This record gives sequence, structure tokens and C-alpha cells, in this order.
Amino acid sequence: MRTYLRFVSLIAAVLIIVINTLKTSAQETVIPIETKDNAIVLQVTADKHLNIIYFGKKLSDKNEYQNITHFFPLDGNGVFNSAYTTTTRNLFEPAIAITNADGNKTIDLVYVSHAFDKISDDVSEVQVKLKDPVYNIDVTLFYKLYNSENVIEQWSVIENHQKGNISLNKYASANLLVHAKSYWLKHYYGGWAEEMRPEETQLTHGIKTLDSKLGARADYFQPPSFMVSLDKPSAEDDGDVLIGNLEWSGNYRIDFELDPTDNLKLLAGINNYASDYSLKPNTPFETPKLVYTLSHHGAGEASRNLHTWARKYQIVDGMGPRLTLLNNWESTYFDFNEPKLSGLLKDTKKLGVDLFLLDDGWFGNKYPRNDDHAGLGDWQVNKAKLPNGIAHLVKEAKDDGVKFGIWVEPEMVNPKSELYEKHPDWVVKQPKRDEYTMRNQFVLDLSNPKVQDFVFNVVDGLFTQNPDLAYIKWDCNAVMYNAYSANEKDQSNFYVDYVKGLYSVLEKLRTKYPKVPMMLCSGGGGRVDYGALKYFTEYWPSDDTEPIERVFIQWEYSYLYPALASSNHVTDWGKEPIKFRVDVAMMGKLGFDIVVSKLSPDQLAFCQQAIKNYGDFSEAIWHGDQYRLQSPWDNDAASLMYVDAAKTRGIMFNYLVNNRYHKGTFAPIKLKGLDAGKKYRIKEINLYPGTRSGIKEGVYSGDFLMTVGINPEVREGRTSVVLAIEEEKS
Ligand code: DGJ
Repeated sequence: MRTYLRFVSLIAAVLIIVINTLKTSAQETVIPIETKDNAIVLQVTADKHLNIIYFGKKLSDKNEYQNITHFFPLDGNGVFNSAYTTTTRNLFEPAIAITNADGNKTIDLVYVSHAFDKISDDVSEVQVKLKDPVYNIDVTLFYKLYNSENVIEQWSVIENHQKGNISLNKYASANLLVHAKSYWLKHYYGGWAEEMRPEETQLTHGIKTLDSKLGARADYFQPPSFMVSLDKPSAEDDGDVLIGNLEWSGNYRIDFELDPTDNLKLLAGINNYASDYSLKPNTPFETPKLVYTLSHHGAGEASRNLHTWARKYQIVDGMGPRLTLLNNWESTYFDFNEPKLSGLLKDTKKLGVDLFLLDDGWFGNKYPRNDDHAGLGDWQVNKAKLPNGIAHLVKEAKDDGVKFGIWVEPEMVNPKSELYEKHPDWVVKQPKRDEYTMRNQFVLDLSNPKVQDFVFNVVDGLFTQNPDLAYIKWDCNAVMYNAYSANEKDQSNFYVDYVKGLYSVLEKLRTKYPKVPMMLCSGGGGRVDYGALKYFTEYWPSDDTEPIERVFIQWEYSYLYPALASSNHVTDWGKEPIKFRVDVAMMGKLGFDIVVSKLSPDQLAFCQQAIKNYGDFSEAIWHGDQYRLQSPWDNDAASLMYVDAAKTRGIMFNYLVNNRYHKGTFAPIKLKGLDAGKKYRIKEINLYPGTRSGIKEGVYSGDFLMTVGINPEVREGRTSVVLAIEEEKS
């Protein structure tokens, strides 16, 4: 009897499981979010929760996604693979945590609806609406899909429909989940003149967090960029590699949580550190976007995906040209006057670049900006240095046949300034504590609309007074110590509102001046992220322009950003010859910051010719595809190339990065990205006067160049070699 009862209850249990499974699959909705090669698949469970069931290569038959319900093994509650992890029933790091108006600290989200929206042939958007079944909160998840680039931008919008304010304790932009045997995270650390130092480590169980709490100049120690490789460390041309960047120029937090069943959860968004954001009823809160791309052919393809996306959709005028320039920062520092600048304008023309960029030190009268201790904030031209004002210089530049650009740092103020005397409450500092500055300056409180107007007017004023002004270098040299705003009712909102304030100023400027070139500088690369780059044409990677260092720095930036956005200046840093310095600066947006009058005739002739060569190949460098051929980290020489979209014209750069005896390239280096069926003439360019090419110049097939390769013959005496690759039509 007992055995019989056991048998009946077993059958009953099996039947219940079968019925439940059928019911579940009958009620589950699968939402595939696809780009050309990839898919994120969301699933609405029977109890209406929204989970991720897949992130990887797209399947040819969409209907088959429903068969991968158990791709990620489930925990007891079935919410660990939530598409936007809440605090209810959850045992892992949440994407969202809140305090409701009544003080209750829970949130649960269930599916309401979803919609697909086609924006263009290439771009579409998926919105998934969720709501808390108990408390009146709506969350919409957004996925903007760039089909041919395999790029996704993901963010969320949170709406409070309760009677009073709620507090957002955590509010991620994106919540992703991947499954592999192992995960390798590459990320960056650094400091002034030491940007983009890479580290790659295998992720272990638990949470690894990348973050910033610096407020402004937020990427100074660590940018919001990451590369996750599945099953093995990243490789250039093979393997699954996910590269991402948070589009936010303030405090951020990116968590990588490896759970006990080996799923990797990635949560990225604004850092909730000291930022329990107080959200008013019926005021949507939009998180910044996380942009990412997944490649199944290594970091090379992933970075090219991002480059194409950035040029087409993010960086200002990404499909347009860039200006070559001469900057005076390192040739004069603060020590200049009108006659000196007149000479530099003539040098700009003589050198053959497009624009002269006047750097720091042109303003302040009561407190002249003669060093970095005074004057910042007082944007009136210094009468002693420039008695005839900026307009006179702009005109002189025009007469000399060059354009004119100017440096500003409008978000900052020296305590020794008229601005600080007039508006001490505009400054970010704790009222009752000691004052801390960085580079002798405070950050202005951009959460304050009056400060926003001031900053806008500084830049707008320059343009309206000088309609021919052709370029702005926008600097930002201080982090926030002791963050506090005299403007904010709720201090918890300050870090977020600061960045929103900054973006609203930039937005307003871009509405009025949509295309004018602006360089994003932050004492070097303290603010290089795609949030800021939406408003800029280019960025300043680092004050470190020592060319060997620069090979490494530019190499690493190139995983995230296209070459046309990288402002590379030839300076006097380091001991490498002028040819090496120019060759390195050419793999990006070429500029100079040297004393042209001190160049020997050969040096000058070399630079002038190199600038012409740069013009000839700029299409490939700016808008073509970049291929990393040989890394400076594992080789004596670094090698990389750019090739235009039609695969007719390319340029290969090679640099010796190991100056020990008998180091160089002793074997051919295989090229990439050419058309195997085309013939290409290979010719060495940027030869220093009086030297001859050391390579076997001639015509080779694309097949030969990509299968066998060519030796650039880099070695002592030929420490940098630039090769032109041009289709030879028979
Ligand atoms: C820091 C920048 O990185 C430099 O290029 C220069 O513009 C200085 N600021 C000027 O103060």
C-alpha cells in the first residue's frame, strides 16, 4: 500500500511538473533583440518577470530562441537572470534599488509591454515597459540597435508616480548576463601623463567593480571602459570579445559579478556613491547610455565596430575632416604677448598646418593668468599681453591664411580671481571645512542654472565676438574634493546634477554651433568617454607626448575610439628624432606644439612633407578601418595600419619600441583588411631628407601582403617607418 501511494504521488508530482512546464512555455513571451550578428533574448516568465535568456551569436531562425529557456541554470527564485535586477527575491547585486515615498525599501518589476521602433535602415529601438505591481513606479528599458555595426546602446528611464519623492539608491543603465567557461576583464588605470595603462585578469567569483568618485575629471584614475573576453584572454582576431563604455562624464560604477553557477552579470551606470538620487513625482529620470559591441572575431573587429558607430552616430562631425594645427602651450606656456603670437601665426603658415591654437594664459587682468595660481574664471582678455584683444589675433590669422582657435576651462575657478570674489557660492566646496583645490582651482557648481549660463556665455561670447573663431580646446583640470553645492536642496543629487548641468551647457552650445571643432581635454585624458564625446570632435589623450609612450597610449585608446578623434601633437618630449615624433602623431589627428623657428631646414622640410603626406592618407586614417598588426607590448616594434572603405588606399605605421641592441623587425609583418584580389604598390613615405627607403618597394597582391606580409625593416637608424599602400590598377 505504502509503495502504491509513493508511486501515485510520484506520478502526480511528475504530472504537475509537466503541466507547469507546458503552462510556463505557453505563457512565456520571448523578445529577441538583434543586430546583424548578435542577439540578446529577453523572456517574460509566467509570473511576468523579465529575464535574459541569451546573449551571443544570432540564430538564423528566431523561433528557436524559445528553446533556450534554460541557457542559464536557474536559482531557486528564478530572478538571478533578471533583465533589470530588483531587490525583491534577489540574492545578487541589483540594477535598481529604491526607497519608496513611504520609506519602504523594496522594488519589484513586472513586464507590461514592449515595442520595436525602426529609426532608419540601420538603427532601431526596443523599449520594454516594466512596473512595480505594489508601488507606483515605472521603469522602461531601452535598447538602441545599430544593426550593421553590431553596437547597442542601453539605458533605462525611471518614473515615480507616488505622492512624494522617492530615493533612487541604485539606478544602473544596463544589466547584462553572459555565460562562458571563464571571463577575462581588460580595463585601464592611470593618472596624469600615464593614461590608459591596461590590465587584463581572469574574473573570479564575486564582484569586481570599476568606478570613479572624482566628480569632475572623473576618468583621471580609471575610465568607464572595459573589454570582457569569453573563455580566454582577449586576442586581436579571434574569440568572443565584448567592449563597452559608459556614456557618462561623472562618477560611474561598473560591476562584474560572477555567480556560483558561472554566469557573469554586468551592471553599469552612474555610481550610487553619495548619490541616493531624490526623484520627484512624474519627472522621468533617464540614466546615461551604456554602449557596447560583441564580436566573435576578437578585439580588432570589436574596436572597428565601435569606431564606425562613433564616427557615424556619436562624435561630432565624425564623417567630416579634421584640422591640423600648431599649439603654443609647450612652446610658450604662459609667457607670450602679441608680437610673439604674431610670429607663431606666421610659423603656422610656414609649417603648413590649418590652424593656430592659443592655449592657457590669455585672460585675467586684476589677477592675470601668468601661471596656474590666478585668473581662472576671469575670461576677459589680458590687456598687458594682448592689448588689441582676441579679435585682432583672429584677423591676423586670417590675413596669414590660417584659422584661429582658443583654449578655455570654463567650468573652473582659481580662488584668486574676480569670479570667486563675486560668487563664492558658485564653487563646489564644503562650507564648514577646509578648502581643497587641485591645480589651485575649484570646480564651479554646474548644477546651478546661473553657473550653466555663465559657462555657456563664456564660450558663446568668444564666438559672437569673433565669428571667425574656428576651434575650441575645452580643458578641465580639477577633481572634486569635498563635494557640496550651495544650490542643491538635496546634496545627494549633486554629483548627478553636475554632469547633467555640464551636458545641458554643451547641448546648448552644440545647438548653436553644431560643427565647430572642439577638443575635449582634461589635463590629458581625464574625461575621455562617449558621454562627453557626443559634444566634441576630438579628445586629448594625454599630456605625455613622449612618442614611445604615446605608441602605447594611442594603441590602448584605439580599442575604444577612432583615430580621427585622437589629437596627437608633436612636441619636444623625449629623445626620439622629429621623424619618429611626427610618424607617431600621424596615426590620429595631427598637430604640433614645438618652436617651429628652432627646426633645422631639414627638420622643417621633413615636417612640411609629412603634413602633405598626412593630407594624402587622411581619408584612410580618419574614416578607414584600423588594423592592429603587431602589439608594442609583446614585440620590439609596434605595427598598425588603416585602410579606406574601398580598400584602395592604406597606410602602415611601424615603430621601434625597444631600443636595446639588435632589435627590430626581422620578418615580414602580415597586413590585414586589404582585398586579396587587388594589387597594391608599397612605398615608403615620410623619409627624412637625405635618406632612402630600406624596404623592398614594389607591387604586391593583397593576397601576398596578407598571407606573407612585408618587412618594414624597422631597426636602429630606422626607428619608425611609414608605408603607403595604394591600389595599382593594371
Ligand atoms: C592641461 C592640458 O592638458 C594642457 O595641454 C594645457 O592646455 C594646460 N592644461 C593649460 O593649462
